Amino acid sequence: MSTEKITLSAQSKAEIDYWLKKFPDNQRQSALLAALHIVQEEHQGFLTEALMQAVADYLNIPAIAVYEVASFYMMYDLKPTGRHKIYLCTNISCMLRGAYDILAHLERKLKIKNGQTTKDGKFTLKEFECLGACIGAPMMQINKDYHENLTPARVDEILTNLA
Ligand code: FES
Repeated sequence: MSTEKITLSAQSKAEIDYWLKKFPDNQRQSALLAALHIVQEEHQGFLTEALMQAVADYLNIPAIAVYEVASFYMMYDLKPTGRHKIYLCTNISCMLRGAYDILAHLERKLKIKNGQTTKDGKFTLKEFECLGACIGAPMMQINKDYHENLTPARVDEILTNLA
């Protein structure tokens, strides 16, 4: 891990403390997923080594435990992303309802492949596992919003409305 040392903001600490209260004092690692979300959101949508170290210090857990979680789950980014993160579900329900056609449409429209960011830094596209909205398949999450029953035309409309 990097030697650069930073501390979490008061706002991040307050939000992490909210989650820490839900767990026993000797189980601070239980707040790790929430802590990573909070810190990532506050820092332009991605986690640096210094931020992961700061989370480890605050939760009093080994830095490697933080890195393992942050590098395992797709919702965390370890490098800069676009302003809008598009998470397109291609799991079973969405796949059966045309998710790969939507993926191909997004890749054509944005001129990027899955996992890439547009040249203007506006969008990052990621194929995702089930996001729990199977009844609205095919679906995608953009930032914190869910968009369901997608068609190529609906995708165009959604993207046009994003600054
Ligand atoms: S399979 Fe796509 S949301 Fe569940």
